[in-house]
Amino acid sequence: MTMIINETLRLYPPVLGMTRTASREIRLGDLLLPADIELVILCLVTHNDPEIWGEDAHLSKLDRFAEGITKAAKNTMAYLPFGLGPRTCVGSNFAMIEVKLALSMILQRCTFTVTNLCTLSSASHRPPSTWSSDHSSCTLNKGS
Ligand code: HEM
Repeated sequence: MTMIINETLRLYPPVLGMTRTASREIRLGDLLLPADIELVILCLVTHNDPEIWGEDAHLSKLDRFAEGITKAAKNTMAYLPFGLGPRTCVGSNFAMIEVKLALSMILQRCTFTVTNLCTLSSASHRPPSTWSSDHSSCTLNKGS
């Protein structure tokens, strides 16, 4: 279930990005950032980068997370659904438990049927070039 949640948070991060302000002039790789500059870090971009996740970056593949978050991508800093560093989400563990509880309750009462419809809604926040008929969608059926 953790793999499902991790891959869902990668493809559909509820928080699309974070901002940081440089408190002083600082070098970041090849970039020299002046003091007070505002940086926008879009996890929607890092989560979908084929150079980091492979050519199938736009597809839902739970196996990516089979060996945990740190081994899922080429760059361990690329996966940011809860942010990173000293201001990382304080509720991330709680949120993960909440999702697992909610999913467990849904699975006790309902079943999912996988359909192979190409749904634009499943990819609507990504550029059309990444839309694919490989996207499956699910129908939720109320249990008896
Ligand atoms: C799926 C659910 C959640 C997601 C995706 C999420 C995501 C995030 C992100 C991206 C940040 C910004 C981190 C950064 O700037 O580096 C953040 C901060 C924060 N989150 Fe969450 N969050 C979730 C649930 C929660 C819950 C359940 C709580 C509290 C019970 C919570 C409390 C906070 C707080 C207090 C901060 C600010 C931390 C700080 O600035 O020091 N979050 N969250």
